[in-house]
Amino acid sequence: MAALIELDRVSKVYPMPGGDVHALRDVSLSVERGEFVSVVGASGSGKTTMLYLLGLLTDPTQGAYRLNGRAVGRLSDRELSAIRGCEVGFVFQSYHLVPQLSVLDNVRLAARYVDGLNRSDVKRRANELIERVGLAPRIHHRPNELSGGEMQRVAIARALLARPPLILADEPTGNLDEQTSLQIFDLLAGITEEGRTVILVTHEASLADRTQRTIRLRDGRVVDEAA
Ligand SMILES: Nc1ncnc2c1ncn2[C@@H]1O[C@H](COP(=O)(O)OP(=O)(O)O)[C@@H](O)[C@H]1O
Ligand SMILES: [Mg+2]
Repeated sequence: MAALIELDRVSKVYPMPGGDVHALRDVSLSVERGEFVSVVGASGSGKTTMLYLLGLLTDPTQGAYRLNGRAVGRLSDRELSAIRGCEVGFVFQSYHLVPQLSVLDNVRLAARYVDGLNRSDVKRRANELIERVGLAPRIHHRPNELSGGEMQRVAIARALLARPPLILADEPTGNLDEQTSLQIFDLLAGITEEGRTVILVTHEASLADRTQRTIRLRDGRVVDEAA
């Protein structure tokens, strides 16, 4: 079976009034199912751009991307959003929860782009995931009634709802204290044990050191790969 992610000489350029910004340069990469990969590098080195590319939120300027065996270069926006909804789960530093909705409804929202799931399937899955991330007692709470770590758990449950093979996390522990960061890290590590791939952008060397593999970016290039 092909790798889950295959980037072949991918570049991303943002044309700007002051000149082109080369956010990624000639990146080739292959990531297998079940791998836990960290991405590190200074601010501005291209980490978020790489996640956006992998998550089909932006397209490469050059090069080819295969996700789950499929070339995703020439798909319509509609096809891309369908793939994104089913195959990719996102976790962001600032959680991106809907403030007016309960924990349960925030998690259920991720079913919007998944075909063939009825309401009761969605509710059952959401309940299971909320239980799994340890938030059953908070299921009817709103985000502003939760701690940062709890909000990030909701975001992880939401990212898993569609059972995507790929989870992309952009500095998910950036707003959390050390102990809470470790708990979130362990939750992400647990996800890979069921064969899902997790790509974690982090500033924290202590976390990157604990993943199976670290990709280091500098000025948009992969400069180092450590297993
Ligand atoms: N939407 C955008 N438009 C123009 N330039 C961008 C955009 N997003 C990122 N960049 C630029 O691309 C480079 C890489 O940014 P980014 O991927 O956000 O890096 P990181 O996440 O490692 O801090 C930076 O120089 C940044 O200013
Ligand atoms: Mg970033």
